[in-house]
Amino acid sequence: MPKLFLGKNPLRWLMTTLRTKGPLRAVKVMWHAALDASWDFFHGTETLTRIAPQNLETDSENKSQATYYGATRARPLVQLFHQLGLSREGGFVDFGSGKGRVILIAADYGFKKVVGIDFSEPLCQQARTNLEAYRRRRKLTSEVIIVHSDVVRYAIKADETTFFLYDPFSAEVLAKVLENLRASLIAHPRRIQVIYNSPRYHEVMERSGVFTGNRHFVIGGNEFCVYENEGDHVRA
Ligand SMILES: C[S@@+](CC[C@H](N)C(=O)[O-])C[C@H]1O[C@@H](n2cnc3c(N)ncnc32)[C@H](O)[C@@H]1O
Repeated sequence: MPKLFLGKNPLRWLMTTLRTKGPLRAVKVMWHAALDASWDFFHGTETLTRIAPQNLETDSENKSQATYYGATRARPLVQLFHQLGLSREGGFVDFGSGKGRVILIAADYGFKKVVGIDFSEPLCQQARTNLEAYRRRRKLTSEVIIVHSDVVRYAIKADETTFFLYDPFSAEVLAKVLENLRASLIAHPRRIQVIYNSPRYHEVMERSGVFTGNRHFVIGGNEFCVYENEGDHVRA
C-alpha cells in the first residue's frame, strides 16, 4: 500500500492506533490528525509528510544524531502561543525548522523576526516554497529568515528571545545548542523562553543552568514544556 498519510501506511496506522489506544482515544487521535492534514490544504503548503532520519539529505556530521522530520501539530501550537501571551517584539528561532510549519505559525502570530534553521537544504527549499504559498493567502509582517546550517554552528543574536524545539536531535547536540544559548545570555543578558515540543531530554534542559523555571502544558494530547529564565540569571 502506498505511504499516503503522514508518510505512514494508513491501514497499519489505523489498526495500531485502535489497538494501542482503544476506540475512543483512537477516534480523538484520528480527528486531530485529520485537522492537522487540513492545515496544509488551507494554506497551500506541504509540511505533513514525514521523513525518516536515514532519508534526511544533509552532509552534516550530526546527521546520525537527528531524529526525523515531522511537523508540530498546528492547533496546539497556536493555542500555546496565545495562552503564554508571548511578546511579539523579540525574535523567534526554530532549531531544526524542517519544512517550516512552525516558522509560518510564528510569523502569523506576529513575531518581529522569525528564523528557521535546518541542516537539510531540500527541507529549507521546501520551507521557502511553503513561505511563498503562505504569503499568497495570509498577510505576514514578520521578517522571515531560513538558514541552511547545522544548529550548533548558528550564532544566536541578541534580539532573539523565543526559541523552539520539536524533538529534533540527540541530548549531545541539544547540550551544544544550550551552551551557545548560555554564551549568548552572558554576552547579552535578557529574558528568554524555550518551547520544547515532546521534551524527551528534559533533564538536559534542567541541568544546563540556563533556566530558572519551567511549565508543562498538554494541549490536544500534545506535550510542551516551556523553559524560562529571569533575565540576568545565568549560572557560571
Ligand atoms: C521533528 S522535525 C521538526 C520540524 C519543525 N520544527 C516542526 O516542529 O514542525 C526536526 C528537524 O530538525 C532538523 N535537524 C535535526 N538535526 C539538526 C541539526 N543538527 N541541525 C539543523 N537541523 C537539524 C531535521 O532536518 C528536521 O527537519
